[in-house]
Amino acid sequence: MILNTELEYKGNLFPSKIVFYKKHVNVLYFKSENGAVLQLTIERDSVLRFRYSTTGMFDKDFSYAITMYASKGYNHLEISEDNEKYIITTSKLICHISKLDMRKTIFDAKDNSLICEDELGFHWEESYEIGGDIVKMSLKSQQGENYYGLGDKPVENNLKGKRFQNWVTDSYAYGRGTDPIYKAIPFYTAIHHDKSYGVFFDNTFRSYFDFCNERRNITSFWAQGGEMNYYFIYGPEMTEVVSNYTDLTGRPQHIPPMWALGFHQCKWSYYPESNVKEITSKFRELKIPCDAIYLDIDYMEGFRCFTWSEEYFPDPKRMVKELADDGFKTIVIIDPGIKIDNEYSVFKEGLEKDYFCKRADGPYMKGKVWPGECYFPDFTNPEVREWWSELFKELIEDIGVAGVWNDMNEPAVMDVPGKSFPDDVRHDYDGNQCSHRKAHNVYGMQMARATYHGLKKFSYPKRPFVITRAAYSGTQRYTSTWTGDNVATWDHLSIANQQAQRMCMSGFSFAGSDIGGFAEQPNGELFARWIQLGVFHPFCRVHSSGDHGDQEPWVFGKTVTDIVRKFIEIRYQLLPYLYTTFWRYADEGIPILKSLVLFDQEDSNTHYRNDEFIFGEKILVCPIIEANSKGRRMYIPRGKWYNFWDNSIIIGGEELWVDADIDSMPIFVKEGAIIPKYPIQQYVGEKVIEQLELDVYYKEGKESSEVYEDAGDGYDYKKGRYSLRNFNQVGKANSLTIQQFKSGKFITAYNSFKINIHGLPFKIDKLEVDNEAIDISKINGVVTFEVTKEFRELYITGK
Ligand code: GLC
Repeated sequence: MILNTELEYKGNLFPSKIVFYKKHVNVLYFKSENGAVLQLTIERDSVLRFRYSTTGMFDKDFSYAITMYASKGYNHLEISEDNEKYIITTSKLICHISKLDMRKTIFDAKDNSLICEDELGFHWEESYEIGGDIVKMSLKSQQGENYYGLGDKPVENNLKGKRFQNWVTDSYAYGRGTDPIYKAIPFYTAIHHDKSYGVFFDNTFRSYFDFCNERRNITSFWAQGGEMNYYFIYGPEMTEVVSNYTDLTGRPQHIPPMWALGFHQCKWSYYPESNVKEITSKFRELKIPCDAIYLDIDYMEGFRCFTWSEEYFPDPKRMVKELADDGFKTIVIIDPGIKIDNEYSVFKEGLEKDYFCKRADGPYMKGKVWPGECYFPDFTNPEVREWWSELFKELIEDIGVAGVWNDMNEPAVMDVPGKSFPDDVRHDYDGNQCSHRKAHNVYGMQMARATYHGLKKFSYPKRPFVITRAAYSGTQRYTSTWTGDNVATWDHLSIANQQAQRMCMSGFSFAGSDIGGFAEQPNGELFARWIQLGVFHPFCRVHSSGDHGDQEPWVFGKTVTDIVRKFIEIRYQLLPYLYTTFWRYADEGIPILKSLVLFDQEDSNTHYRNDEFIFGEKILVCPIIEANSKGRRMYIPRGKWYNFWDNSIIIGGEELWVDADIDSMPIFVKEGAIIPKYPIQQYVGEKVIEQLELDVYYKEGKESSEVYEDAGDGYDYKKGRYSLRNFNQVGKANSLTIQQFKSGKFITAYNSFKINIHGLPFKIDKLEVDNEAIDISKINGVVTFEVTKEFRELYITGK
């Protein structure tokens, strides 16, 4: 027997003392006596990248997550050393690296307070079976430290005390706590002592995060291969952490077309054509606004992607045109599995060009999905992505489909252990050939990326719209997403709320749930409550499996239909507000929904809140998540808030009971806010907007608001054809001034604003717009008047 005891070390290995140090511009190298290397890159004053090698060699530096547009550069960098440590100082951070064991400690440069400190720090375990190392990092959890983020985990906002895995997984009817599910977003934010930082572990292998679960004061993360490669992102504001994370991993490459922010209706499946038309006509008949209708897998011929069932959809081009004439955008599903069928052109071409994934020893990766046995394109190959993008020509350019829905892209495989490819499947990984262990988590992302490029090309000059189920960090650049196959239960309504907030906090704001639940059927009350929440999610779509009955807004009786209409109408009125928020998200990475901890991190009451959130910048929402409710208790964040329904004012900083019968829900507007509103439309573009309504909520003090508009589609906005209005409101005991500053070259169709001032505490003596007096009316305490959209200053004084 041959024994080679060097083949496998059992247990953890650690870097020993540092024996070598080198600096190359913004990259520092530290080498230990036992050959471990820490490569520390100063990306920005507040962003440090830690990359470790156990062999002295690094892999090629390649990442699907990091965008080429990530900001680089810093204001200050100073490196010094003493007997024990190296000291790296930027204008935001001070980082100590211990000479004894490479452990690091990070401080805020402003006040020297401790932000993050290694416990064991970097360590690893050699793995003979899989080759390479299991790479690990452990950090001390500071007193009162809490954790958030990590994508779509179906649990409460605060992750402390829990352990998670990142491995994208098809999870039909998942439940609270199911882990992992569809997305792998290895990014979290932490907060302690009012200061927030983030960690982005850019490693696509199966990875784990443990937030004080295994050991009370320790947070750790590790992966089953690859490098320990993570970014430390400092705030101290949590919003800055998320914004900096999206600076690294990217923001949507463009604002969605405005219609994509409207209401979407979906079901598995609407067919044949007459059924689709029945549904869309009913929306118009009942005057329930709707912009998009979805075709699930049954529109295809035997579930072959890029085909149409001749029986059900004999003339798709005509149908899509007729739907478009009625204001409906058609969105179709496209899955990754390509049916093995020698008569099928996509299959034949994929085979000829050698674009399908193969097993380690050569055979194709064969797996069962909806069409039966399939092969799967290797989307990690740039040539395959290019081919795939070209496949959309007919669907988009010719037939006129407006959006594509990528599903099953984990990739999901039926009737096999692990519900996906086996580990040995080979991938190109953009020229860095690897096994599925490394490519699994990015497969769906690369599919969505290829789809996005196809749509971008063929929708031009319109903006593309894509939705994906699977995602890795960075997928937000290309597509929107939904939270997969949830269930029609009250608990799932609350899960949907947390997932949407969590996705926003994880840099991926364009997200929503299957409203009403995918599996099973909600009753009318649950459906109504879910719609109430869903209209405040960035992506708003009803979807269901259809095998438990219908789920259109009108199937639960008139009361529910009226409630659904009322709330969808609110969404359509708030479109300019949501669009502005979207622009801020695409431009600066500011999350569209703000969990209370993100909105007011200094108020520690917010650290464990789950249900309440801020929609955009100024609207506080809290869904009703229990049956038979007439209202609920909720936490009102600090500050003064107007009740959206009756203008009554409440002072936040405490938990309060709020009435909300079935036709209502708790909605509050922050004092000082100016909320833009459009008239109700049945779909975006139905009406020429002839006047913009501005709801002004008086505040004693200062507050600014903005309204962003552009053509609602196309790319002219990138050339300056947008309209950005900044409104500064200054309220005093007996006066109110609003100043407007406008930038951008877009000329809005409307010429005037209708201004409604809520909560004015004094009787008006004089109202002047650019020094000219104007008429007002007063209805239910709200002062209303019209002014030109060009006004610069509005001045109201009291008696
Ligand atoms: C998956 C999707 C679901 C879709 C169904 C059929 O379960 O998550 O949304 O309706 O497949 O395509």
